[in-house]
Amino acid sequence: MYDKGKVLIGLAIFLVLALSVVGYNMTAGDNKKPEPEKPKGYTACVKSTDYMKSSHMVLLNEWRDEVIREGKREMVKTPEGIMVEKSLQNGCMHCHTSKVKFCDRCHEYASVKPYCWDCHLAPVEPADGKEAI
Ligand code: HEC
Ligand code: HEC
Ligand code: HEC
Repeated sequence: MYDKGKVLIGLAIFLVLALSVVGYNMTAGDNKKPEPEKPKGYTACVKSTDYMKSSHMVLLNEWRDEVIREGKREMVKTPEGIMVEKSLQNGCMHCHTSKVKFCDRCHEYASVKPYCWDCHLAPVEPADGKEAI
């Protein structure tokens, strides 16, 4: 049979834990969605925005493999008809000119730290890398 006392204690513990999570989420820092800065002068990315949101890391790996392993360095055409180099630094960052205001804003929010910048150069940010206007 059930032990009513234990069930109640279990329920109480569950409630305390559940509420503390809610409380934590309500008070913990800034939980606003990130707002990566859109590139000026362009309206389209190299693929659809939805694809880029979910799969930009996959595309980057494809580009890397094609360029380095298969030697396919030919440029790609964006939906806007612009020719872009298959390159992190000279492709992506040609349009997304700030790592801090673009890549980092989402990655800090999602707690991911791509190691790409150990080797690849990020665009030079103004002053100390702090956000300008
Ligand atoms: C030709 C310029 C251009 C290049 C090159 C480019 N992008 Fe974009 N990207 C854009 C524009 C413009 C948008 C915003 C599109 C929109 O508003 O729908 C965008 C959107 C995105 C988004 C979605 C942002 C959001 O607000 O959700 C991601 C992620 C992204 N790009 C990553 C990359 C990566 C990674 C690369 C290199 C593989 C790259 N982009 C190359 C112009 C570019
Ligand atoms: C709209 C938000 C957003 C923007 C803008 C964005 N990323 Fe990401 N990125 C993410 C998220 C979220 C993940 C983690 C996805 C996952 O784990 O499935 C991620 C993961 C990655 C990864 C894989 C890292 C890993 O450890 O698995 C790479 C590489 C990457 N992003 C590169 C870039 C680069 C380069 C830029 C800037 C040109 C950029 N991203 C801009 C949201 C974004
Ligand atoms: C250990 C150093 C190192 C790290 C870390 C690294 N790369 Fe690279 N990557 C290179 C080198 C070297 C090349 C070859 C450059 C060339 O031949 O043009 C390259 C080339 C590439 C290319 C194609 C050419 C270009 O100029 O961009 C892409 C795309 C790329 N890497 C993406 C990434 C991404 C995304 C990450 C992080 C997930 C990453 N790399 C991490 C060293 C590195």
